[in-house]
Amino acid sequence: MTGYDQRIVPVAGVVGDPVAHSLSPLIMSTWLDWHGLEGRYEAIEIRPDHFRSGIDELRSAGYRGVNVTLPHKEAAFSIADEVSEGARHIRAANLLRFEDSRLHADNTDVFGIRCALEELECDPARPVVLVGAGGAARAALHVLIEDGFSQIRILNRTRERAQALLDTMQVDGQVYDMNDPDVAVYQAGLVINATSLGMTGQPALEIDLSGLDQDAGIFDMVYTPLKTDLLLSAEARNHRTVEGLTMLIAQARPSFQAFFGLEAPSEEACPLRKKLVDRLEQRS
Ligand code: ATR
Repeated sequence: MTGYDQRIVPVAGVVGDPVAHSLSPLIMSTWLDWHGLEGRYEAIEIRPDHFRSGIDELRSAGYRGVNVTLPHKEAAFSIADEVSEGARHIRAANLLRFEDSRLHADNTDVFGIRCALEELECDPARPVVLVGAGGAARAALHVLIEDGFSQIRILNRTRERAQALLDTMQVDGQVYDMNDPDVAVYQAGLVINATSLGMTGQPALEIDLSGLDQDAGIFDMVYTPLKTDLLLSAEARNHRTVEGLTMLIAQARPSFQAFFGLEAPSEEACPLRKKLVDRLEQRS
């Protein structure tokens, strides 16, 4: 790896508020152990009004960088000296690297979403239904545009927010009413849930999937529970599905490489999924 002193034990972390629930330390330590690499990855709470100073402290303390989780993703983007194209388009970052006395911002959710969609191999010419209009939906919309999906339908509780998302991303899409999800999914080839609906303790995302294309794929970003009601009903109709855990693991890979200079091992070489499932089950 360039730019780092190889004699110093690399230290990185994840910053958020709250952050204790983050699975990133378990992911990173599993991969560090597999490589037999000396290194540390910590969960660090930073309050929103101290974000800039908190980041500066970590940088001065010799951290190689940090992952950034809620509520700091927009702030991370705005304080960076250099931003990747993805982060610029989404206006949010979840990876900050401290290198060459500059702050580099990237958005690895893009990579995680792309990996999830690659598993589904959906036809970009078919309509796609994106549920949600927040930060997660914004990242998904970026990937959909880059991957050439041309018929975008956004389904969101607040229609104005969905329209604003399309406008700011300069996307020519259609907004659908959350009270009428069945119309939105009619003949669609892909459905993505980018809301917290279906998460344990939250209302379910109730969509009648009978109008979907027969070979449509469903990707749910929620990973607690591992299989949401949406995914269960999609599987019952023989649709291909991808769970939120796939995205969670994939989005961590570029960060591991950025912090520790080595590629994260594959799931076959270093089983991680079960560890994460066990951790999630311990909590519930
Ligand atoms: P994130 O950055 O994780 O995407 P967010 O910006 O708060 O989080 O966005 C959350 C998304 O989930 C939004 O699309 C939100 O709908 P609104 O735009 O109408 O707020 C959606 N959402 C959250 N709770 C919901 C609920 N109970 N019913 C319907 N939609 C919900």
